Amino acid sequence: MSLDPEKAVFPSRQQLFDFHGVSMIPIFTTNWENVQNFQARPDDILIATYPKAGTTWVSQILDLLYFGQTCPERQKTIPIYERVPFLEIAVPPLFSGKDLADKLPTTPRLIKTHFPVQFVPKSFWEQNCKIVYVARNAKDNMVSFFHFDRMNIAHPEPGDWSNYIHRFMEGKMVFGSWYDHVNGWWKKKQTYSNIHYMFYEDMIEDTEREIDKLCSFLSLSNSAEDKKIIAGGVQFDNMKKNEMTNYSTFSILDFKISPFMRKGKVADWKNHFTVAQNEVFDEDYKKKMKDPTLQFRTEM
Ligand code: A3P
Repeated sequence: MSLDPEKAVFPSRQQLFDFHGVSMIPIFTTNWENVQNFQARPDDILIATYPKAGTTWVSQILDLLYFGQTCPERQKTIPIYERVPFLEIAVPPLFSGKDLADKLPTTPRLIKTHFPVQFVPKSFWEQNCKIVYVARNAKDNMVSFFHFDRMNIAHPEPGDWSNYIHRFMEGKMVFGSWYDHVNGWWKKKQTYSNIHYMFYEDMIEDTEREIDKLCSFLSLSNSAEDKKIIAGGVQFDNMKKNEMTNYSTFSILDFKISPFMRKGKVADWKNHFTVAQNEVFDEDYKKKMKDPTLQFRTEM
């Protein structure tokens, strides 16, 4: 399966619109009713992130933890976006992430979403599903999103960098405000104990430690050796050269503009922000991020 941008039915460079108070594009809302009626199973694992926070990385880790031993061919032959379907994406009549999730043959089913917490289909809560949320510091997240918007021909044009910073601060991004997203999920964690909230920066710092924590949360008993092998296998350079994880087979992305696996670093924002932009951003950040319990690292 691949999305063919040459096909006339594919709407390129969609425009943002307000959808229940969140900036969205049609490719992620057109299947709304069906997605809202998705029937989650108690053992489904939902991987939730703001775009560009490390979704693919944690997806590959979970796929290896669950199926690396029993079904090693899977990781070698099936691209990550088919092993871990993107629930809300839909390009009718070509493609629906929800249909792909419905048909997943695995147990558990690993399912990806970028929805803010209030958009998650209710069956995930009713079934008390385990949810892995990955968050990434705002500045690096924004830089990554900027380059992704450049190369993803379904997304709105990012425009120039200085305007993009303002769009980001205003939440005029695909899937809305980063600030609302990370805070909304953080708040949900206080009342719904089956959320494991993790940070991209922690995964960079010590992938093996974060894999250990994932195993505890998911009650997985992979051996220490297995976890070590997985941590090595999912390092950036390995995932970048692996066709099953680097999205090179996903044709709505234009790799001539930018790679999907771009840098994989903390603090690349320093190569993008001017001193003045950084001051404006930090000032605004303080106003929006009032919860002292939610802290991000912008450098390490
Ligand atoms: P950069 O653009 O900063 O390089 P997502 O999967 O949510 O779309 O996130 C993509 C971002 O995660 C990209 O960031 C990508 O390079 C980074 N990434 C993916 N796999 C990674 C890995 N194994 N190690 C570090 N970063 C990774």
